[in-house]
This record gives sequence, C-alpha cells and structure tokens, in this order.
Amino acid sequence: MTSILPDLIDATQTTEEAFLKHIFVRDQMAEWSKQPLVMARADGVYYWDVEGTRYLDAISGIYVVSVGHNNRRVIEAIKQQLDVLAFSPPMHGTNPLAVQLANLLAELAPGDLSTVKFQCGGAEVVEAAIKLARQYHRLTGSPGKYKIISRYQSWHGSTLAALSASGLKSRKTVNEPLAPGFVHVFPPTCYRCPFGKTYPSCEITCATLIEDVIAMEDPATVAAVLVEPIGHTSGVSDPPEEYLPILREICDRHNVLLIFDEIITGIGRTGRMFAAETFGVTPDIVCIAKGLSSGYAPLSAMICRKPIAEAFWGPISENPGFVEGHTFEGNPISCAAGIAVLREILERDLLQNARDQGERLRRRLVELAGKYPQIGDVRGKGLFQAVEFVRDRTTRARFPESTSFGARVGRRALANGLLCRFDPHWIAFGPPLVVTAEQIDLMVAILDRSLGEVISEIERAGKIEG
Ligand SMILES: Cc1ncc(COP(=O)(O)O)c(C=O)c1O
Repeated sequence: MTSILPDLIDATQTTEEAFLKHIFVRDQMAEWSKQPLVMARADGVYYWDVEGTRYLDAISGIYVVSVGHNNRRVIEAIKQQLDVLAFSPPMHGTNPLAVQLANLLAELAPGDLSTVKFQCGGAEVVEAAIKLARQYHRLTGSPGKYKIISRYQSWHGSTLAALSASGLKSRKTVNEPLAPGFVHVFPPTCYRCPFGKTYPSCEITCATLIEDVIAMEDPATVAAVLVEPIGHTSGVSDPPEEYLPILREICDRHNVLLIFDEIITGIGRTGRMFAAETFGVTPDIVCIAKGLSSGYAPLSAMICRKPIAEAFWGPISENPGFVEGHTFEGNPISCAAGIAVLREILERDLLQNARDQGERLRRRLVELAGKYPQIGDVRGKGLFQAVEFVRDRTTRARFPESTSFGARVGRRALANGLLCRFDPHWIAFGPPLVVTAEQIDLMVAILDRSLGEVISEIERAGKIEG
C-alpha cells in the first residue's frame, strides 16, 4: 500500500495564522504573526517575501550571505557536488571536500591556526571549542582546568553550553539553571563603560580585570577566555585597540586558551578574512560560521593552533583523540559551498570591497548622526557597523524601554523595504561583502527616512498628550 503525502499548503497561505500555529520562529509568535515576514526568494542584495514585497538586505540575512544571494558560482558548485556525493559516513571517515576546505582554511587563518573541526552552526562550534579547551588541558597535565570566562551581553548560541557562556539575560533566564563552570566579566562597552571610566585614562580596566578574575577563580581551574572580537548583542562594541592584545598576554601568563567567536566577524566582515587580523591578535581557537557558506548550506568551523592539535595525536593507549562530533559534520555539500565562497571572496577581492564600502557606510552613518541628535554613537569595523540611539546626547540617557526607539525605527525601515538588525537601543548594518556604493547610500537613505518618520510620530504624539 502506498501512503499519500497530505496536501501542501500554498506559499501564499504561509502567512496565515492558522498555518503559522504549526511552527515556532525565533520571535514572539503572537506579535510576529500579526505581520509575519516569510521570504520567498532572493537575488544579489535583495529579498522578496511571499507577497512580492522587496527588501534591501542590509544584514546579509543575519550576517550570513557574504557573497550575495543567488550567487551562481556557489550554486553551481553545490549542484555539481550533489551529483557526486551528498553525504559521507562521519563515524568512519570524511570526504575530499572537507579535507580540501580544512587545508584552505589552514592557509588563510592567521598564525598557526591550522586544524579544523567542521559543524553545521555557530553554537555547535562554540561547544566544540569549549570541549577542545577542556580536553587539551586534560591531555597536557592540567585536568583541573575547566572554567570558561566569557562576557556579559555576549551571544554564543542557543545550545546549553554556548548559552551558559552567553551573557544575555533576556535569552538566559528562561532557560536557567544553565551549565556550571562559566564565569562572566564585563565587556568593553566604552560608550557606556561598566566601570564609569573614559578611554584611554581607564587603562583598559575591562581587560586587566580579567587577570584578577582568573586569580580569584584559581588559574588551575580556568581553561579558556571566550570573546567575540566585536561584541554584537551589546550593540556592536568594538574594543579599544589594546583590549585583545592584553587578553592575549593574560591568557599566555596563566596557560589559559584564548577563544575568538568570529561567527559574525569571520570571513571578511571586518575587511580582513578574520577579525583576528583586523586586531592583530591570534587566538588559540577561532570559531567561524555564518559567512563561511554564505547560507547556501549549513556550515561552521572551529580552527585551533598547531600545538593544541598536536596534543590530540598521541598513541591510542593514552590518547582518545578529540571526543566530539555530529552526524552532519564536514558534509560534502556544505564544504563545496564553503570552498566556492572562499574562491569568490578571494578572486573578486571582496575583502577590499568590504573595507571600501565599510568606510563609506561609516561616513554615511556619521553624516546621519550630524542630522539626528538621537544618534549618540556610531561604531564597528568594516561592513559591521551600528548606531546607538539616545534621548539626550549630552548625558547619553536612553529612551525609556517602553518607547523601544531602535526597534520602532527598525520596524519602520522594514516597512520601507530595508532589512537591518534592530534592538530597543541600536540598529546594526552588516550587508553582503558584494554590496556596492549605491546600495550603501540607499540603505542609509532608507534609515534616514525611517528615523525621520519615527521622530515626527513621537513628537506629534507628545504634542497631543500635551
Ligand atoms: C557571535 C555569535 N556566536 C554564535 C552564534 C550562534 O550561531 P548559530 O545561531 O549558528 O548557532 C551567533 C548567532 O547569531 C553569533 O552571532
């Protein structure tokens, strides 16, 4: 007897609440389903939703689509690979594409970062990095080192250890209790220094204090310090230039591994292949994801330094190797996409484009700050830039939570055809690395219009309320 697939609903029905009741998205469902965004197709730097509305993609989906939508080179590479091998047995070996991509990454990564573990998503490689750090210490005579120091306001992913390392209370509290062994420190949010200091007279307290935290926790228990080179969920906080070099020195002094979560900043976003190069600091382990496959297939990678990898090569009698793995790791389709993306970035010199267009984006946002006193700060590197909103630029006072100013501007921008990342207090841009000067200007022009509309609305409401 053959069973029949139940009827599929039509694409146009996928915005109807009755059908959306069967899926969880990452937003608050009741709110989101009032105006659901369901994307149907994409090309270059544009998306179209199922109703045919076009959106300029100022955020690469979510910092993912590095080489643009509908990139023919990547699509052809995937099609060719599908005809040859779609899945290889991960418990018994790997496949040529995974080994080729690992070797490419080893060439491209700074310093001796040269051994790769592939996974599908960001959180998975953060988990892998945490496990690698702990197993490395166990193999090298420091089995008591297990604690991970990470930062408040950070985001490392939704799985339990990545979430435990993260520092966003809005995403953590509902899932507590989380895993033990995670210690949090304050991030370098200079515009709102957690220590009430000002750069450079602060002498980078947020970095130097990490040494005190290691001492208080007992260095014999600390495995790694895990940071995003540029903190995203704190509102795109790029640290002062001394910050990461200080972390490097502290970690070296205490046999603590330095892990960079470059899941957003890696693969060209800051204008170099890795933000580690932008900041001139090589971590012991780097995690990349999002832009690595440009979203054409799920792909992430953790890359570690040579001496760390070597610790996992001992004889089987005393060394179990790296105990970590998932079914879809090193998937040949994903790796084919990764290779094609890297080829596209290097052959088209998209790193230079990211630097050029990043400068232009910064200039345009600074110009906008000249027009709107509600923009208190402009920050970021390359094609990863944000503006923070304030009610009063002198005092840096924020709009009340209830105003949700940034989210309001972001939603208005969406209604005006611009997709960006928004939060109650800031808006971020992270367009594809293929973005042109005209597209950058258009993105900022739509933000300008949206900001103007929201401010007029608030002023009008203020007058009515008297
Ligand atoms: C900096 C950073 N790390 C880790 C993650 C987790 O990645 P994923 O959602 O692919 O698990 C994200 C996702 O947004 C991220 O921005």
